[in-house]
Amino acid sequence: MARVGAAIRGEFPIFETATYLNSCSQGALSHRVRAAVEQWLSGWDSNGAEWDFWVERNEEFRASVARLLHAEADDVAVTTSVSQGVSALVSALPLDAGRNRIVISEYEFPTIGQIAHAQELRGAEVVHVRPDDDGGISPERFAEAIDERTALVCCTTVSYRSGHRHDVSAIAEAAHAAGALVLADSYQACGAVELDMRTLGADAVTGGTVKYLLGTAGLGFMWLRPEVYERLVPTQTGWFADEDIFAMSIADYSPHRSARRFDSGTPPVPALYAGVAGAAIVEEAGVAAIESHVGSLVDRLLAGLDELGAGVATPRDPARRGPLVCVRSTDVDALVDALAAEGIVVSQREDKLRVALHLYNVEDDVDRLLAALTRHRALLG
Ligand SMILES: Cc1ncc(COP(=O)(O)O)c(C=O)c1O
Repeated sequence: MARVGAAIRGEFPIFETATYLNSCSQGALSHRVRAAVEQWLSGWDSNGAEWDFWVERNEEFRASVARLLHAEADDVAVTTSVSQGVSALVSALPLDAGRNRIVISEYEFPTIGQIAHAQELRGAEVVHVRPDDDGGISPERFAEAIDERTALVCCTTVSYRSGHRHDVSAIAEAAHAAGALVLADSYQACGAVELDMRTLGADAVTGGTVKYLLGTAGLGFMWLRPEVYERLVPTQTGWFADEDIFAMSIADYSPHRSARRFDSGTPPVPALYAGVAGAAIVEEAGVAAIESHVGSLVDRLLAGLDELGAGVATPRDPARRGPLVCVRSTDVDALVDALAAEGIVVSQREDKLRVALHLYNVEDDVDRLLAALTRHRALLG
């Protein structure tokens, strides 16, 4: 039996004191991740700089991301954040007069919009794709914004703001027909939603370990399609992106032949210890099992919210949503505080409460939240 729900919850001490529904901000700390970070500290204490072991950890993380994405390790860059990976990616785009547009959905995380707009200093034009009346952004909306001037299309897999999931493959089809690349930032999906690089259609996929991969800050990844990275030469780089990191040459720039050319400087060692341990928990449970477990918790939550007459911003269609459900509130700060006072940890964006489900949540968590929302019905929008 897959280790999800009650079978894994004991690994995460926070559930002894709280109803934790905030994996969209930070995954819960496990005994295993704590032990891995302690192992980093004791190795530092006993041996000083364990360079060989750190490089090995870096490669272990790359390999575990590759397995989670149904990809090859050579096609994964290990980054310190999504921002670092995406900045390196756009640094490799010529953005010349003929192809200087970056199309971004309104649901991108701020870092994607900010990096795109920063390219205006290099002559880029940024085109925003806005949601339809139902709150979703259809592939047709993207197709209208894409043309032969488009260099890159950014369509986050699951929106951190609303929980909407984009139809990445259909968007990629439209982008590829116009000769544009596609970046699917998948931070709000990876670890809770099956992502298969053989079928997703994107050219670049980013994520990190803070949320559903159960690690900590400072570590991310960027998968790239080999035909794409082979012709992209980042101008934002670092010595870990070099063909031979131990050559120590200051005489040239020789980017690695694999996606490692999008790595950067010294790897984030403490975050690697945590990241490898966190990703192992996800891998052992199996993303397919996690997705199905989370899907049934989301169904239960949506049914309860409907009974309450709450305004739900996240789509009903299971294909159009992930582990995050967003609920409208008339005073979201007050609602988050009221729930926190009852030991229920959630978060907020704009006027919406964000409720995130993951492998360690159980039906009782959903029922507790629904009971609390019933008591605070006046704060629901
Ligand atoms: C969709 C998405 N992308 C990116 C990030 C974070 O980016 P970075 O790793 O650059 O801090 C987050 C964090 O909340 C996110 O939700």
